Amino acid sequence: AAAVGYEAESAQVHLGAVATDHAGFTGTGFVDYTNVVGSHVEFTVDAARAGDTALTLRFANGTTTDRPMDITVNGTTVATGLSFPSTGTWTGWQTRTLTAALAAGQNTVRATATTANGGPNLDSLTV
Ligand code: GCU
Repeated sequence: AAAVGYEAESAQVHLGAVATDHAGFTGTGFVDYTNVVGSHVEFTVDAARAGDTALTLRFANGTTTDRPMDITVNGTTVATGLSFPSTGTWTGWQTRTLTAALAAGQNTVRATATTANGGPNLDSLTV
């Protein structure tokens, strides 16, 4: 099936803020994790069928320090401390893809910051 994009600013945001102050985002903005450990963005995504699926997160990290995040699918951790390294500048958006098993139908995909730096700025998830 064709990939579908889900905007972070339209997802469930916990301890983060929607922002627009760094160009190059898709949709109407992006999520700033506000430098809080445990801050997260949770997307609700559809899968036509169960099975391994590519999950592509579009992000920017304008610092020189990694911003690792834990990724869960339907509450199960599928990646621990996934690296979101420096992208050079806050407008230097890049993508990071992982593969995880989705259930048929509706799934939740959550990306949670694991350090007090928070996550990277998060633009979207493409499934
Ligand atoms: C800066 C930047 C924000 C970013 C923040 C951070 O304030 O403008 O977009 O979220 O740094 O460190 O996460």
